[in-house]
Amino acid sequence: VVKTITEVSALKSHRDSLKESIGFIPTMGNLHSGHISLLEAAFTEFQTVYFSIFVNPKQFGPNEDFAKYPRTLQSDLDLISRSVEKYPGKQVIVFAPKDPAEIFPSGQDLKISVTGLSTLLEGAIRPGHFDGVATVVYRLFDFVRPAKAYFGLKDYQQCLVIKQMVKDLTLPIEIKCLPIMRDSTGLALSSRNQYLSPEQKEQSLLLSRALREVISIIDGSRTNLTKAKKQMDDLKTDKNWNYLELRDADSLSENISNSQRLVLLGVYQLGATRLLDNLQVEVK
Ligand code: PAF
Repeated sequence: VVKTITEVSALKSHRDSLKESIGFIPTMGNLHSGHISLLEAAFTEFQTVYFSIFVNPKQFGPNEDFAKYPRTLQSDLDLISRSVEKYPGKQVIVFAPKDPAEIFPSGQDLKISVTGLSTLLEGAIRPGHFDGVATVVYRLFDFVRPAKAYFGLKDYQQCLVIKQMVKDLTLPIEIKCLPIMRDSTGLALSSRNQYLSPEQKEQSLLLSRALREVISIIDGSRTNLTKAKKQMDDLKTDKNWNYLELRDADSLSENISNSQRLVLLGVYQLGATRLLDNLQVEVK
């Protein structure tokens, strides 16, 4: 069963009518199998899953793609319905506000900022982006009061920001960050992939290939890090990289001398489209 709700008041009263704990998947729509993998994970634990579809204006910069971000509500709902059919007895409540004022009423002046983490990497290139993400996710959490919320690891830094927000505000919500889904070429699934021309699609292969190459040089051993960094420097002579960085997997600190878990984060830009990807590695 799929029920669609467009108003916060209706969402809140629906939530109040439920006694059980629920799972939640916040999205901006234009769903792909990455999103559906989150839904399926939630179904393993919850009878009722809330799913939001909202293109959040607060997380887009002035020159970004807010206006042209793909809005495909009907096909998103069809995809969710087809997925739910495979799970008899489960229900999905889709919250798809038509008006951003539902979430950000005029006069409200809230901003949640996870300082520090939000200014690194993506945050340095997109100032204010993670404040916009944290603020909308906080609002949604407040409406939905989930026991667990699910996110994709493609937006690795977003996962860390949200985990930190939940920890700092002591919200009783478990954050699950689930593996990146890829197409057959290795490209991480993203709604923005559809902006790519056939030629750019071809070029995009370089991103996941480069990440795999560096991780295989590291091969789980700290002694290989110098060699890996040399390879990263060679790769970065290609000006399409916004960044390619090896960081501590928990703090995103550049100082990795004592880190056991690392994350290699890359953003490769083709035209106006920035493709994000990352891989984690443990080192001894
Ligand atoms: O990852 C996304 O799609 C968005 O950043 C999120 C978490 C739904 C907040 O708008």
